[in-house]
Amino acid sequence: MSLLENKGNDFASYKSDEVNLKDRLVKQLPSKDVEMLVNAGKLAQNMGVKCYLVGGTVRDLVLKKRCYDIDLTVDGDGLAFAEQFTKFYGKRMKSFAQFGTAFVVLKTGKKIDISTSRTEVYTSPGSLPKVKYGEIEYDLYRRDFTINSMAISVNPEDFGRLLDFHSGVKDLKAKVIRILNDQSFEDDPLRVLRAIRFEQRLGFDIENRTKELMMKSIESNCLKTVSAERVYTELIVSTNKGDAAKFITRLSELGILRQIHKSLYFDELKAEQAKELSKLLEWFVKEYPQDKIEKWYPFHLILFSGLPKDMQTSIAKQLTYPSNFIKSISKIKLFLDKIDSGELKDSTDGELALKLSGLRIEDVLYLLAVVKDDELKSRLRHYLTHSRSVSLSINGHDLLMMGVTLGALIGSILQTLKIQKIDGKISNREDELELAKKMVDDDSDSATNLE
Ligand code: CTP
Repeated sequence: MSLLENKGNDFASYKSDEVNLKDRLVKQLPSKDVEMLVNAGKLAQNMGVKCYLVGGTVRDLVLKKRCYDIDLTVDGDGLAFAEQFTKFYGKRMKSFAQFGTAFVVLKTGKKIDISTSRTEVYTSPGSLPKVKYGEIEYDLYRRDFTINSMAISVNPEDFGRLLDFHSGVKDLKAKVIRILNDQSFEDDPLRVLRAIRFEQRLGFDIENRTKELMMKSIESNCLKTVSAERVYTELIVSTNKGDAAKFITRLSELGILRQIHKSLYFDELKAEQAKELSKLLEWFVKEYPQDKIEKWYPFHLILFSGLPKDMQTSIAKQLTYPSNFIKSISKIKLFLDKIDSGELKDSTDGELALKLSGLRIEDVLYLLAVVKDDELKSRLRHYLTHSRSVSLSINGHDLLMMGVTLGALIGSILQTLKIQKIDGKISNREDELELAKKMVDDDSDSATNLE
């Protein structure tokens, strides 16, 4: 039993060298990841270097949470290690020589990051660091918070040994987010967002001095020096992993949202909608695990709502949101305009499904969270639970066999059949073929009449 367990999770008297997390690592990580770490350690030993598991996974292991990412750092030549590792266990790698880092895709398909233990010299606040190579101690010291500054050795001689020079375990126990040095937010102002990410996601408190320096950074509009891509990526990760509603609310309370863009706001109404959306997402993911949805997406649609469409589009572009998100904004607006104009009031479920079929599931979940009208809500829900999964038993090939050659006609017949099927007017292949035949005949009759 490790010291962590011995003390009943009372980490106060913990000493770095005494803690070995091998058992926990084996228990918590998927066996393929453990095997990969053992192999990485053996390779490191053969190459005469030290290899460590670092970053969030170490934190999550100590917290007994599910761990996803594998970040390795090598005390020695990390790129040479990454090349050898890829040769034996990987499919391909991409290296970034100027940073001493590599991204390796393993034979299993899993992606891992390998870096060289380093000290970073930040040229100007918010810019990418210039890198100097150094020891693991320095590497851990340059990191954002004590809880993220631990490492686990994977070399065979001390596999599982925890390195914790900055009392990360103690702060995890105390549920505290603490920077390692007073320069931390200046070195990388994005850490302001990261502090809030961990505060909200783990339910921790930001330690007083850290909070003081964080507020100073916010007051100096620190994010203006960070690239839009980095801010965007951080926002996505934070809303994907934690409680998105709480995270955005906190950004708004601290005045950070307006620094990201002066027109962005998150008021009580949006916070309520986001809470409703959280419940919907929980339900949807449980009911339809096969539908892979991007959790961040509908939350950001809420964040952007309430602004004129042109402004939404321009902010999204400035902040480097993907083009499909910008398309969603337009499609949703079009759909809501149709609702407002009453165009869809008497539509059947099939007709409504046709209008919704161009939207992403995330868009429909967003609509479900924000529309007020109960009838529309229940129709949207019906679309998600029934209409969207209705499929035809016949396809274009069957129509070709009937002699329909015009692509547009094939599309329109299939569309009509789908509407009829959703509306329960036809139910099986025979019905579909019969109705299709009738439509083909009607079409050739009307063509003949025109001659
Ligand atoms: N890190 C840092 N400063 C940053 C970003 C990252 O010091 N601005 C370090 C931290 O040690 C962090 C590690 O890099 O743990 C990996 O970063 P990342 O994968 O972005 O975050 P995680 O801490 O792994 O968090 P998550 O579980 O949300 O992925």
